[in-house]
Amino acid sequence: MKKIGVLTGGGDCPGLNPAIKAVVNEAHQLEYSVLGVKKGWKGLIENKIEKNYIQCLTPNDVRTLDRLGGTILGTSRTNPFKSESTEKKLIRNIKRLGLDAIVAIGGEDTLGVAARLYKKYNFPIVGIPKTIDRDLSETDYTLGFDSAVKKIMEEIECIRTTAESHERIFVVETMGRHAGHLALVGGLVGGADMILIPEHDFNIEKVNSLLKRDKRTGKRYSIVVVSEGAKPKNAHEVLLDKDVDEFGHVRLGGVGDYLAKEIEKGTGLETRCVVLSHLQRGGAPSEKDRAMGLYFGAAAVEAIYYQKYGRMVSVRDSKIALVDLEDAVKKLQLVDVERDYDTNNYNVKKRPRIGRYVYL
Ligand code: F6P
Repeated sequence: MKKIGVLTGGGDCPGLNPAIKAVVNEAHQLEYSVLGVKKGWKGLIENKIEKNYIQCLTPNDVRTLDRLGGTILGTSRTNPFKSESTEKKLIRNIKRLGLDAIVAIGGEDTLGVAARLYKKYNFPIVGIPKTIDRDLSETDYTLGFDSAVKKIMEEIECIRTTAESHERIFVVETMGRHAGHLALVGGLVGGADMILIPEHDFNIEKVNSLLKRDKRTGKRYSIVVVSEGAKPKNAHEVLLDKDVDEFGHVRLGGVGDYLAKEIEKGTGLETRCVVLSHLQRGGAPSEKDRAMGLYFGAAAVEAIYYQKYGRMVSVRDSKIALVDLEDAVKKLQLVDVERDYDTNNYNVKKRPRIGRYVYL
């Protein structure tokens, strides 16, 4: 009987719980047992982990999970490779628990650790892609993206009525880190008048002249979606503070406020900013995140069954596939500006329509 560990790391999002449910159910079918590891990699480098960080999971424990957002296992941004001692603890704890394999559900950092664990120790590991940023390579989908896009759409819908009443410009700041997928697709389905993404630096004079043109042509209000990683030409990203996490990431945020002030100054039009922040990661999973979580979770255990380790389950051309974990985390999947972004109007490229790439 195999013993599988499952953990969720990095920023939480809807879709994690459905994936945990499927891992447990599929493992049960194969008569494997599942240990839930709490708080991501942190749960494997602490002392007394059996008492505080390990939970045996049975199908009964996960029965209703597909409806729930967040992660019942908790999460953290812990890098066990940050020091020799935490790395040793990780290996020791994995051995002590008698884990035969691990399913790691996460983004570039959590899966980066998984790739390293596989490469350095040949430990049997399979990854499941999750991040609202949708920036992992080698997959057309990452859990959480759809729910976050839906949230952006709903919030823009709300902002629209007050924007129209007051004839204001609204800047809506989204997450996404260095990738603009979330802003681009959220802005598309929310009907934004302008979308600014990290992959293409914006020119503030151009932003203002496009907005003034819209006003002249009769628009009573405008919605500008800006990704937290977007920045004006020749400037740095706007940061929330100077701290970096254990993986060396800065905390982005504040470009929306900056932009609102610059727009009001440059256009003379009343402008407000709304930062969607963690609302985008909250709430129940969308239909798609439930389905994808269930597909990915079951496929990850199947990969373990066939001993396909060092892989990440992925979706390519509407089919579940297995790709190399290392390739998935080697470089970020960013917006293809040439293909998908209209740099003249700062919005989604309208053409070509036939044969165009479709964001899942
Ligand atoms: O990577 C997911 C993400 O939501 C990013 O879009 C965002 O920059 C970051 O996490 C926020 O992290 P935290 O939850 O630590 O504030």
